Amino acid sequence: MHEKILILDFGSQYTQLIGRRIRELNIYSEIIPWNKAPELDESVKGVILSGSPFSVRDEKSPTPDLDRYRGNVPMLAVCFGAQYIAQNYGGSVEASNTREYGRAHLATINTESRLLQGMTEGSQVWMSHADTIQSIGDDYRLICSTNDVKYAGFESTTDETFAIQFHPEVYHSEEGTKLLENFTVKICGCAQDWTPQSFIDETVGKLKDKIGNDKVVLGLSGGVDSSVAAVLLHQAIGKNLYCIFVDNGLLRKNEFEDVLQSYQDMGLNVKGVRAANRFYSALAGISDPEGKRKAIGKTFIEIFDDEANQISDVKFLGQGTIYPDVIESVSATGGPSATIKSHHNVGGLPDFMKLEVVEPLRLLFKDEVRRVGRALGIKQSILGRHPFPGPGLGIRILGDITEDKVRILQEVDHIWINGLKAHDLYDDVWQAGAILLPVQSVGVMGDERTYEQAVALRAVSSTDGMTADWCHLPYEFLGKVSNEIINKVKGINRVVYDISSKPPATIEWE
Ligand code: XMP
Repeated sequence: MHEKILILDFGSQYTQLIGRRIRELNIYSEIIPWNKAPELDESVKGVILSGSPFSVRDEKSPTPDLDRYRGNVPMLAVCFGAQYIAQNYGGSVEASNTREYGRAHLATINTESRLLQGMTEGSQVWMSHADTIQSIGDDYRLICSTNDVKYAGFESTTDETFAIQFHPEVYHSEEGTKLLENFTVKICGCAQDWTPQSFIDETVGKLKDKIGNDKVVLGLSGGVDSSVAAVLLHQAIGKNLYCIFVDNGLLRKNEFEDVLQSYQDMGLNVKGVRAANRFYSALAGISDPEGKRKAIGKTFIEIFDDEANQISDVKFLGQGTIYPDVIESVSATGGPSATIKSHHNVGGLPDFMKLEVVEPLRLLFKDEVRRVGRALGIKQSILGRHPFPGPGLGIRILGDITEDKVRILQEVDHIWINGLKAHDLYDDVWQAGAILLPVQSVGVMGDERTYEQAVALRAVSSTDGMTADWCHLPYEFLGKVSNEIINKVKGINRVVYDISSKPPATIEWE
């Protein structure tokens, strides 16, 4: 078991950020809802208490039992955590007259504190709190203040417990990483040896132990997550990994052949299944977005099940699930939220498949998956791909789907994506795609009047797809692509560019 920092989540919007900052220091961290706090074991080198939307003065506010940790491992309490320590260990917390929110500067620093070593007076920190710590217990000493907040930081004189009112995990806290490094490396003694290679070695070892000589079946999508999951499983069990890559007739131009070829080059045992017609039949006449998603998901499952049944004695189902999909977060209304996001590109697999699930990436964030993929030698053309929805072009053709519409959209998408690549814009864009609109408009080509369809181009910047902004691409480039599309793709005489952000719009149109 790799050594780790345990992060107890009290529902702060920044909790995931704490996890990421620690991992960026090559130290493994895990986020656990506060009321599921585990017993201490020897893998835990330190505990961090997160912030929270709650006030410690609130009746319903979290009441973690810290006794199992305090005095046994170092603890860093952030924001709400710091207030909880003050309030419950001899100090007091009051509502402050003004919300202390945004930039502040550390006016005094006690550099004898091991937590603050190497930090400089005047350093900018990020505050976000409504309550103020009025006093701290007798067994605590003040270690830093801002002009407005006296107890910006304090530490225990009897054990290795540290508390700070500001958020070191936020980029605006200039020396936040230094503080987190002091805590994890100097105080907790973490070895900083959690690297992509160590993750690969440990994961492959665990997969070998778990799977033994049994068989695993895995659906590949052409995307980063399923590809990295497949290569890890392949390293562990070789030919006992059976991959299935389905052409649902809604992929991009040449995608089936190109991606299948890359998988074969990677040495994977992959079966390509051409099933476009089955999907088109299932979709015939359906124009409602959710109806289309359901039809696509159901058809995928039928095909996947048929294929899996052709391989005898399969025991496991491999999936490319990643950390944000499984992380349990504490909701703002109290307790861990009831729903854990379950995200399967294939729309979920039914119980009748009776396969045990293996998810080698379930503890990694997306950028970590990419780093592991790089260490595994996976090609940049797969690692750097824009996200592409499971239902593919099916939810980018507004209204019902026909083979002809798919062909038109594939041509448009091909020009759009190749244009971005040719102008070195592809990697600056988080996701791009084209949408076929159910709109006809009048145009003129040569001496002839045309009455053809319109297409929308979409390119967004984002970090996780939850929020997004439209990309401000150069006009000349957009003009060039628009011309090329109208000249080359029969059936299209008008191109528009989508300038909506998410929210209030979404990335996909359906
Ligand atoms: P929206 O449109 O909700 O999309 O802003 C956010 C991200 O999710 C992708 N997306 C999907 N992915 N199945 C998927 O696997 C789906 O049904 C689906 N719908 C949207 C979308 O492409 C974007 O990356």
